[in-house]
Amino acid sequence: MSTVFLNGQFMPIAEAKVSAMDRGFLFGDGAYEVIPVYSRRPFRLAEHLARLRHTLDGIRLDNPHGDAEWARLIGEIIARNAGEDQSVYLQITRGADTRRNHAFPARVTPTVYIMSEPLVTPPPSQRETGIAAVSAPDVRWLRCDLKTTSLLANCLLRQLAADAGCVETILFRDGFMTEGAASNIFAVKHGVLLAPPKNHLMLPGITYDVVIELAAANGLPIEVRDVLEEEARTADELWMTSSTKEVLPITVLDGRFIGTGKPGPAFQMMYAWYQDFKQTVMRAGE
Ligand code: PDD
Repeated sequence: MSTVFLNGQFMPIAEAKVSAMDRGFLFGDGAYEVIPVYSRRPFRLAEHLARLRHTLDGIRLDNPHGDAEWARLIGEIIARNAGEDQSVYLQITRGADTRRNHAFPARVTPTVYIMSEPLVTPPPSQRETGIAAVSAPDVRWLRCDLKTTSLLANCLLRQLAADAGCVETILFRDGFMTEGAASNIFAVKHGVLLAPPKNHLMLPGITYDVVIELAAANGLPIEVRDVLEEEARTADELWMTSSTKEVLPITVLDGRFIGTGKPGPAFQMMYAWYQDFKQTVMRAGE
């Protein structure tokens, strides 16, 4: 059975219990992170902790731990769980109140939870053929830059993909592509990588940053700018990126082929750069 961390203690997951009055349960009032772990080392930990601070500041919740303490706790969770490659999930909610009230309680202790799951990266077949996606209007709020546990809109949107036997739902708002239900989306047109700019309409993905860095380092032209819905639909390539999916080619959108309907040459290069980069930073002990 896996070991989790809850409010200062490590325990078997079956023993981890939180109050029914927890604001995470009642309101989805919390922040979270998902950190991939390769060879028992967290990938881009400093960047995940920086984004966590951004989310906590955005929802007016004090960070219960400094970065060194987070690193220690995450290290412990990795050590106490099986598997070289893991996916560490952490969340902080505003804690349990004595009554249900939308406004923040005056005094409340946040609930801190960390767990580890096996890191299940996509099967090679998905890289070889690409995945299918559907699209939907982006009906979420205007603070999509915050990684909060209020994920009902994302869940409903991702379920549209699941209902259609697809992997992801690509979101469009006011004629522009924002991101996926649980991933960032890139387009490639005429050999240029097009990336929607980081703003309040999308999550600043850690994998997104890695992809942009790798493109720059390897001379793949990049334009970070608004991407029209039409540009996305007529792109030569579309990719989705996230900590658990890494980089995946999208070859079908709403039942129509993207480009040739096969993973494109830019994807093949990016995938190789990404795997190389992972090996290098893991060896160097980032
Ligand atoms: N989701 N956009 C959204 C809405 C996401 O939920 C995610 C990741 C991303 C990609 O961010 P990153 O590269 O930092 O993983 C973009 C995680 C994996 C999740 O909720 O499980």
